[in-house]
Amino acid sequence: MPETSPASPGMERQLQIYLAGMQGQKPPLPVAFEELERLAAERMKPEAFAYVAGGAGGEETMRANRVAFRRWRLVPRMLRDVARRDLSVELLGRRLPAPVLLAPVGVLGIVHEEGELAVARAARDLGLPFLLSTVASKPIEAVAGVMGEAPRWFQLYPGRHPEVTASLLRRAEAAGYEAVVVTLDTRLLAWRERDLQHAYLPFLHGDGLANYFTDPVFRAALEAPPEEDPVAAVRLFAGIFSDPALTWGELARLREVTRLPVLVKGLLHPDDARQALDHGVDGIIVSNHGGRQVDGAVAALDALPPVVEAVRGRVPVLFDSGIRRGADVVKALALGAQAVLVGRPYVYGLALGGADGVRGVLLNLLADLDLTLALCGCTSVTEPGPDILVEG
Ligand code: FNR
Repeated sequence: MPETSPASPGMERQLQIYLAGMQGQKPPLPVAFEELERLAAERMKPEAFAYVAGGAGGEETMRANRVAFRRWRLVPRMLRDVARRDLSVELLGRRLPAPVLLAPVGVLGIVHEEGELAVARAARDLGLPFLLSTVASKPIEAVAGVMGEAPRWFQLYPGRHPEVTASLLRRAEAAGYEAVVVTLDTRLLAWRERDLQHAYLPFLHGDGLANYFTDPVFRAALEAPPEEDPVAAVRLFAGIFSDPALTWGELARLREVTRLPVLVKGLLHPDDARQALDHGVDGIIVSNHGGRQVDGAVAALDALPPVVEAVRGRVPVLFDSGIRRGADVVKALALGAQAVLVGRPYVYGLALGGADGVRGVLLNLLADLDLTLALCGCTSVTEPGPDILVEG
């Protein structure tokens, strides 16, 4: 008998789906990303869907992210033994089952009532790291409570209130988060046409502020607690959320308040990567925030190779913005990323099926990754390189 599991998670997932089909069952959620998004558009509140699906300005960057993936073509290699694959990867001293992380996505409470707790359960079940956003709908400790020993990182928006920032980091550390991801590309909120058209910003409704409203330092800065005077609490948040005046020196300050590894997210220029390295970061996430910040920005995938070259293996380089399928992951790995983050696909899974929906979307992605990797002639996620890619 040929061996299947666990050497072939892709075949396992295929078999599960096809066998269910013999009983007349179709997959509970659309397999194709485009169908998933279409169904989410039907089922979600229009303003919530617009918030998730939209990008900056005319959404040129969102389109460019996908065009960049299409421009690279895989060149599969033949007659290599690919019977067993190993998708695992070592990141920040921990072995992960696959080079896939759940990107920090704020305000998941507008997507599903269980919000981040449902995502945390799915991530835990799969052993994939969940990056909890600063602007989450569920607090740091509650998400940690769901995750047990499973890997989790905390994403930080370094704001205008250093004591609140320090308090958030202390809480993340105490709750077992293993790294801090400092997002650099959101010093201001971009001009987002869909949200403007709906005249909708979730934070002003108090959504996505769980970490602030439960924070002792934030609460101490208020005259009345958020439960009594939510408007004043939202106003304080709006005043401290971001600080466009921050410069690279902020990274040194953050280092003083946390022992956790510090990664930066949202870099696109190799000189910024060099700056980040000079300031001692432990990792870099190349990202254009899923096209949500600068309209007409370089596709994140096009920014990846120059950053990888500048970093020269000194710290891990991760990638996000536009990952939709297994082939996208293989291309990002081949261009030098150690791992990728996925955003909107799992959010639509959450919208349509809660924790099961997130799990289903991620299992499909991992299966597709496994099969595509094998079909390209690779048996491990460190193998893809420029030799299996052509531009055209
Ligand atoms: C985000 N992203 C994000 N990033 C971050 O560092 N902190 C955050 O709070 C958020 N919030 C957020 C909300 C929504 C609705 C989306 C879609 C995205 C960006 C996210 O981490 C990631 O960079 C992109 O989502 C990746 O692109 P794709 O996979 O969505 O194309």
